[in-house]
Amino acid sequence: MHIRRTLFLAISEFCAAKAHPTVSASQPHVARQYNAADSYAHWPSYAELPPDARYPTRAAWGVWGNDDVDGALNHINESSILAARSEIQLGRTFNLNLPLEEPSIPINPNRKPLQHLFQPSTGYTDDVVVMNTQISTQFDGLRHFPYSTNNSVDTYQWYNDLIPDYEDVIGPAPSTVLGVQQAADKAIVGRGVLLDFAGWALAQNLTYDALHTNYSISITQLDAVAAWQNMPTEWSRPGDILFVRTGWLEQYQALDAYEQNILPYSKEGPSGGLLAADETLEWLWEKKLSLVAADNPAFESTPFTQVISGVPRSLHQVFIGGWGMSIMEFVDLEQLTVALHDVGRWAFFVTICPMNIVSGIASPPNAIALI
Ligand SMILES: *[C@@H]1O[C@H](CO)[C@@H](O)[C@H](O)[C@H]1NC(C)=O
Ligand SMILES: *[C@@H]1O[C@H](CO)[C@@H](O)[C@H](O)[C@H]1NC(C)=O
Ligand SMILES: *[C@@H]1O[C@H](CO)[C@@H](O)[C@H](O)[C@H]1NC(C)=O
Ligand SMILES: *[C@@H]1O[C@H](CO)[C@@H](O)[C@H](O)[C@H]1NC(C)=O
Repeated sequence: MHIRRTLFLAISEFCAAKAHPTVSASQPHVARQYNAADSYAHWPSYAELPPDARYPTRAAWGVWGNDDVDGALNHINESSILAARSEIQLGRTFNLNLPLEEPSIPINPNRKPLQHLFQPSTGYTDDVVVMNTQISTQFDGLRHFPYSTNNSVDTYQWYNDLIPDYEDVIGPAPSTVLGVQQAADKAIVGRGVLLDFAGWALAQNLTYDALHTNYSISITQLDAVAAWQNMPTEWSRPGDILFVRTGWLEQYQALDAYEQNILPYSKEGPSGGLLAADETLEWLWEKKLSLVAADNPAFESTPFTQVISGVPRSLHQVFIGGWGMSIMEFVDLEQLTVALHDVGRWAFFVTICPMNIVSGIASPPNAIALI
């Protein structure tokens, strides 16, 4: 108890010393003139982000209104959901979630593995699950990754600047805004589109190590993947959920148990993924995606070392802190990919319902694909 008190005191002091230039309520700040009847009127291009120079790198703050909490999920509406129905043609379903025990040792070894306990009782059995939500297939909520310039608490800035202090996230009485319960309440349904980068790379005889290097996938390569899949030039629709199969999971699952268990302790622990760069962000922004997903630890390659618009930033910071866009990671795309190749289609119907945890940071996505 004493230790906890001391920790909270230390955090409060940290927050009091917060130095970043917050946009105060008294200053008029810039938002797009959002009109629910015409959701893309005055839609800013990537070059026009952020709408106000005081906002952090490429933030889309105010684009859905200054108090908006749904961010990129606003791209999903009744008509995009009804249009996605046509992707259900065979009645086949796919679980996109790994077992919660996989990876066997969390890829970031600072994270504790799943604890699963059984509680026998009189005539029935309960079980108890204690988990870090980042260890297996996951949906990163909007409290997970603020902007920061040097990973220090005093530079944290969350989506639409809706959280004043870190204590509102981790303190004894957290606020609820941007909690993962919002995504649960949204009951996410839409059209998924797969880019099978790993399949394309194999067909090109391109070998790469997604497990031990920061191999970084470019948008030029993703355009080539779409062409290889015979997709039309305009293959995305507003509200789409983009899934990229980087090949990380396939490579991980090909390791034996010993190699899987030592992987998290390999030097620096890099992993392959998308290149964190302005051109990647622009390519994604112009597609008006509601969510992005991949079969790897972070969607982008790790460690985060890149510079975006002249500032050290990760895709995580811009997606989650800037656009209010969640990320799904460690998504199991293996069986779905085989089925999509069989039918020669790349779009499918998706449902996602994170756990309804008030003030939650992340959750298993409970994602299902239907074709
Ligand atoms: C719903 O989204 C579609 C794009 O998927 C967009 O064209 C349409 O304007 C949106 N409808 C409303 C009422 O905002
Ligand atoms: C991080 O950056 C902030 C703002 O520039 C600065 O006040 C703080 O001292 C820095 N912290 C570290 C650990 O470098
Ligand atoms: C890949 O390698 C195979 C076997 O060597 C060869 O037949 C094929 O043409 C190569 N494909 C490309 C795209 O280079
Ligand atoms: C990948 O790692 C190398 C070596 O550490 C580094 O020079 C390069 O900038 C990194 N690339 C990316 C995209 O992170």
